[in-house]
Parts: sequence; structure tokens; C-alpha cells
Amino acid sequence: MSAALADPSALTSSIRPIGIFDSGVGGLSVLRQIVHQLPHEDIIYVADQFHVPYGRRPLEEVRGFAEGITRYLLSKNAKIIVLACNTASAAALKYLRESYPNIPFVGMEPAVKPAAERTKSGAVGVLATPATFQGALYASVIERFAQGVKVFQHTCPGLVQQIEQGDFDGPITRKILEEALNPMLASNIDTVVLGCTHYPFVIPLIQAIVGEQVRVIDPAPAVARQTARLLEQQNLNNKSLRAGQVRFVTSGDPALLEEFVQKLDIPKGPINAVRWHSSTLTDIDQSL
Ligand code: DGL
Repeated sequence: MSAALADPSALTSSIRPIGIFDSGVGGLSVLRQIVHQLPHEDIIYVADQFHVPYGRRPLEEVRGFAEGITRYLLSKNAKIIVLACNTASAAALKYLRESYPNIPFVGMEPAVKPAAERTKSGAVGVLATPATFQGALYASVIERFAQGVKVFQHTCPGLVQQIEQGDFDGPITRKILEEALNPMLASNIDTVVLGCTHYPFVIPLIQAIVGEQVRVIDPAPAVARQTARLLEQQNLNNKSLRAGQVRFVTSGDPALLEEFVQKLDIPKGPINAVRWHSSTLTDIDQSL
């Protein structure tokens, strides 16, 4: 980390953006909630679509990506960084907090706590990536909150890629979800925890498969509330009343990200390309 980034006095202006990142489009489910709760904030969203999916990669590799993106966001003067990705949180949240102690980070963990507190059947299902299930964060969540509750896990192979392609309800997406959810239903789950930020885009299909009596938990609103709380506590919230501006960057194809963003009910903004050079993310258009 450079000395300039470590200097807290360089990080106190209130017009700096919120930095949000994910392996791809998943974090847009979190961005949507952040925009809703914090409409005056500027946002820069990084989709690392060159590397998507993260979920089957070793945690150390994902940690390297998360650090490269963090450095990129800090170079854009981000005042807070939201890891809108359970996999990146599993791989890097602790490490980033230790490495950049002056920067507030918001991370994600599967919402097992509210699921375990409210289940009536005593059985809950968790959908997340293999890396998220392997991480110490998930093990600690299970140990702290899931005592006496049966937890069924599934990694939904291929689902992230289907969602990246914008397939929210086609036959392949349905088949992946049925294979994950039907055995859980047979085990009497009454709650499904979405432990991957891509999955909220398929909530209507999940709900159609599990039925209205099964609760589906999307942690994005809670993550947005936590972001708002941290900004308030650290007096970093934007005081102006103009609408916040959103800017997107992708290490993949900007045209594909644009197509996805157009479908969503979120503010639109410029979409630019970034490239990885070794472990550093740089703008293609150097005027940015
Ligand atoms: N959306 C991410 C998550 O929350 C990553 C999915 C992936 O790239 O495998 O875990």
C-alpha cells in the first residue's frame, strides 16, 4: 500500500464515492439497495468479469483480485469499500481490514443468523459458492448461529454463469435450482439463505420452486443499512442533496455489462473497461 493511501487526512472529504465490487453482475443486487437507501451518494462499481466466476477458485487467488480491486478503488478516492460478494468476503475481508486499517470495509456472510432465529421447521438451506463454504467466515457463522438447526448446503454449479448471461428463468437455470432445492424441500426446509450476490436476480424462480411458504433471505438490504451506518458514524456521508452518480467499470466486455445494467431498475451511468496487468487494475481510458 502506498503512504498516500494510508494517510487518513487524505480520506476525509465527503464527496468521495462509495466503492463496490464483485466478480461480475452479482454485486448489482447490493448496489440496487445501496442506491435506494443512499440516493445522494456517488458510486463506483467494479465487475471483475475477466475472472468471473470466483467461486471455484482458490481463496488465495480471489484475495489477490480483491486487493487489486481495492487498490484501484482507493486510487479513485473511494471512502468506503463494499465487498458485494460473499466469495471475496470469505477470501479477503479480514485481510483487507488488517492491511488498510483506515478504510471502512463492508463485507458479506451468508445470513444464517436470521434464518436460524426464525426457522420453525429447524431446517434451512444455504446456496453459496464452494469458496464461500470453504472459508473460515462461513465456519464461524455456522458455529455461532446454527446450533440445533439443520443446515443444508448447495453450490449450484453453473448458476453464476447463467445469471451473468442474463438467464434468470430459462430451462438450464431452472434445472440447476431444482437440483439444489428439491432435496432441501424433501428435508423440510422453511428458509433459503442466498449466500451469493448473483442469486437475488433469480428470487422469483426460487420462490416459484420452493413455494410462497418458504422464506428466501437476501442480505443486500442489511448490507446497505450497514454501509449507511458506517458512513454516518464516520461522518463520511454526502451532505449535498443532488442525486448520486453511478459509474461502472468491468475487466470484461463493457457492452455485456451495459446490456445487463439496462435491464435493472438502477441509475444508469458510464461503463468503462479496465484491464489487469499482473495484480494491478488500470483504466483503458487514461483520462478517467
Ligand atoms: N457474487 C459472488 C458471491 O457473492 C461471486 C460468485 C462467483 O463469481 O462465483 O459469492
